[in-house]
Amino acid sequence: MQELIYYQQLDSTNRLAKELAHQGAVAGTVVQAKRQSAGRGQYERSFLSPPGGLYFSLILHPTLSAQEIALVTLAAGLGCRDAIQAQCGLATQIKWPNDLYCSGKKIAGILSEYCLEMADSGKTPAVVVGVGMNVNSRSTDFPAELQGQLSTLLDCCGKRQDMAALLQACVESIGWRVEQLTNSRSVFLTQWQQADYLFGRKVQHLLRDEQLALGIGQGIDEQGRYLLLDSGQLRRILGGQLRPL
Ligand code: BTN
Repeated sequence: MQELIYYQQLDSTNRLAKELAHQGAVAGTVVQAKRQSAGRGQYERSFLSPPGGLYFSLILHPTLSAQEIALVTLAAGLGCRDAIQAQCGLATQIKWPNDLYCSGKKIAGILSEYCLEMADSGKTPAVVVGVGMNVNSRSTDFPAELQGQLSTLLDCCGKRQDMAALLQACVESIGWRVEQLTNSRSVFLTQWQQADYLFGRKVQHLLRDEQLALGIGQGIDEQGRYLLLDSGQLRRILGGQLRPL
């Protein structure tokens, strides 16, 4: 970690990290907030960020081609999984592209945002990896309608975690996994498949709540697209949402 910028409260760490990336912040800069008032999630949803969670955004400058850049978000998911395993001894699974699950419930989500406008001004585009993890809270701290879908590290492991140590482990592991994309891609892909929550499950592919495909999860291809076997045809999923049935 190069620099840690910490707030008791912020609207969104991704919003600020993107602004800092545009202003030239170096790779390894981290923005963390104890709570967020306007946390952003995937699919333009808001992300509830009460105290007790780990909320941070990491600025990266990966040396990958435009076709490969989607792999960074998968590397972030695997990195967070490594960190949870190391810090809490808990094995989580990854729901493509990068939600972390424990016993069928979501404990962390990741929103990667690409600063593509930087390329127009001749700069290497930065990637902001935003992580929201339910750590020292309880699922009962969340609204009733969400309680059945999510869990926390405290619920899963029965003990509180050292937030600073967990953050450090996440940042190191994400960096290491992003390097692995360049140094040892095939090992990376194999290890991602071993953590795949959707493999072998019946899965719906949705775009704005409309079903586009229904198939059996088959893991990812070399560009990080998710593979669904749908009526004998292999579909390569690049965007939208995957929901296990
Ligand atoms: C998701 O599950 O939809 C992704 C959630 C990502 C939330 C994190 S919290 C830190 C960072 N700042 C944000 O505004 N969003 C990400």
